[in-house]
Parts: sequence; C-alpha cells; structure tokens
Amino acid sequence: MRLVLLGPPGAGKGTQALRLAARYRMPHIATGDLLRFAVTWGTDVGLRAKQYMDAGELVPDQVVFELLRRRLEQDDVAGNGYVLDGFPRNRAQAEQLDKLLAEMGQSLDRAIAFDVPPEVIVRRLSGRSSCPTCGRPYNDTTSRPRVPGACDVDGTALAHRDDDHPDVIRRRLRVFEQQTGAILSYYQEQGILVHVVGTGRLEEVAARLVAAVEGAA
Ligand code: AP5
Repeated sequence: MRLVLLGPPGAGKGTQALRLAARYRMPHIATGDLLRFAVTWGTDVGLRAKQYMDAGELVPDQVVFELLRRRLEQDDVAGNGYVLDGFPRNRAQAEQLDKLLAEMGQSLDRAIAFDVPPEVIVRRLSGRSSCPTCGRPYNDTTSRPRVPGACDVDGTALAHRDDDHPDVIRRRLRVFEQQTGAILSYYQEQGILVHVVGTGRLEEVAARLVAAVEGAA
C-alpha cells in the first residue's frame, strides 16, 4: 500500500502517519523529517534547506526530490509500501513522484487530504513541543508533560520547532493555500483522492483515516 498524506501544516499528518505506519507495518517517510535531519547533521542539503524552512517557504523541488528518491530506494520501502507525509507540495513534485514510481513499476493507492480550519492549526502548532534528547512529542492541548516545559522521560527542557513561530506559521499556511492546495485536483483527476475531517480527538481522526484507507469512507 502506498499512501500520500496531504494537508496544511499542523493538520495532523505526522501524528496520524505514525499510527498508520504502525498499524500496517510500513515505513513513515516524512520529507520535513528528512530535511530536519539534514539540517541537524549540517549536510550540504541541510545548509541549503534551512533558510527556506526557517522562512516557512518550500525548499527547492530538486533538493527535496533527491532526498526522497534516495529514501524510496532503500530496502525497507520496497516490500511493504509506505506512508508519505509532506511530499508532494506542488504540481511539479506530484508529477516527479508519479514519474519515479512509474520507473519503479509502482503507483499510489490513495492520496488523503486532511481538512482542518486555520484557527485549529494555529492553536495546535503554537502548543507543539518535543524533547530534544529523546524526541518525545508533546502538545499543550492533547499531551501535556507532567512538569510544564520538561520531558516526562528524561527531564530535558522541551523545545519548539523553529518554524512554529506565529509569523512563520502564517507564511506556511499561505504557501499551502497557494501551492499545495492545487494538487488536490491532480489526485482528484486520478480518482485516488479521499478527504478526511482532521478535527476531533486523535482516535476519532485515526478511525476516519483507516476507513478512508480501506475504502469505506
Ligand atoms: P513539514 O515537517 O512537512 O511540516 P508541515 O507540513 O508544515 O506539517 P507539520 O509537521 O507542522 O504538521 P503535521 O500536519 O504533520 O501535524 P502534526 O501531526 O505534527 O515541513 C516543514 C518544512 O520543510 C516546510 O515548511 C518546508 O520548508 C520543508 N519541506 C518539507 N517537505 C517539503 C517538500 N516536499 N517540498 C519543499 N519543502 C518541503 O500535528 C501538529 C500538532 O497538533 C501536534 O502537536 C499534534 O500533537 C497536534 N495534533 C494532531 N492531531 C490532533 C488532534 N486530532 N487533536 C488535537 N491535536 C492534534
């Protein structure tokens, strides 16, 4: 099964992708994570990408595509399919992905679009944090740490993502509306687009998602 999760920043793509990946035992491939690793490790790609990410802009297509292509060629991806989160972000990326998959003799099964209103997104992203040591995610609304600002596991001070600053969140939302929204029609035309309401409790969204993946939505 090959799935693409689409939706604005903070729609819950990463949260739900992890659940899907565990349920169907397939890798979760997030281009945002691949880029953040590259930034953390100080690679050439990371050095190029950081300025775009900090500004809430899309990283140039070819830079992201190269990272993704290398990941899709790894052994764990070949057998089980995957859940792709954060790619594609515009029409050119959607076409690049289809071309690559065709070369590999593959195709996408579903493109799932999360629908979440902007006011919910801003609230979610402003409350998001994680532990820099163990990576555990927290949120002021859904999963608060026992001691405010400190990780439950190792006590490390929690950190916010650099691009979760209110100005950058607004910019990311505009980029989504201007560029990523347009690819919904691309997948609609292919007959593989399914919409999922992304508001409500995590478990409710997860149940809707499974129904969408399994064709009951
Ligand atoms: P990326 O990392 O992909 O960020 P994003 O798309 O902006 O999405 P987020 O990770 O912010 O949100 P999400 O939808 O995964 O929500 P989450 O599950 O975390 O990209 C970052 C940057 O990298 C881009 O701006 C760009 O610069 C670059 N980039 C990446 N891919 C690229 C590409 N293909 N091309 C070019 N550039 C690229 O949830 C958010 C919060 O809400 C969490 O705290 C969570 O706990 C909470 N939450 C989730 N669901 C619920 C719920 N149902 N109820 C309450 N809270 C919830």
